[in-house]
Amino acid sequence: MDRKKFVRTLGICVVGIPLASQVLQSCTSIYYANTSEEAGKITVAKSEFLNEKEKQRQFVLVTPRGTDFPISLYKMGEDDYVASLLKCTHRGCELNVGGNIYSCPCHGSEFTTTGEVLEGPAEQQLKTFKTTTDDQNIYIYFS
Ligand code: FES
Repeated sequence: MDRKKFVRTLGICVVGIPLASQVLQSCTSIYYANTSEEAGKITVAKSEFLNEKEKQRQFVLVTPRGTDFPISLYKMGEDDYVASLLKCTHRGCELNVGGNIYSCPCHGSEFTTTGEVLEGPAEQQLKTFKTTTDDQNIYIYFS
């Protein structure tokens, strides 16, 4: 390998490895929680918010039976959770989660983690569901 080619390859590695690492880290932050579901109530154990390193997740995704869109269960504080349907209110695309916002890949709408519109063209807030908690679980009232 000549010197010029070696330097170019080294440069790609120096820039590429940290970028690849960030991309992989962002991929691993999406976690689909184990849940149980009964009569319109979804149960999520609070332990689902702990990752394999015992660190707190900010959110988990929940997939109710018979639905096309996941629910994002976002931890706002101690025993304070918001459950939002990840369906864009503009034309119904599935939203992405990242950087403490929900963003739409179709036309660029953005929503806060409580479902409020940050950026159009969407005009209506996301559908959210009532949540309650006890010592062990979070309950999403899905109907
Ligand atoms: S469907 Fe989401 S912005 Fe259009």
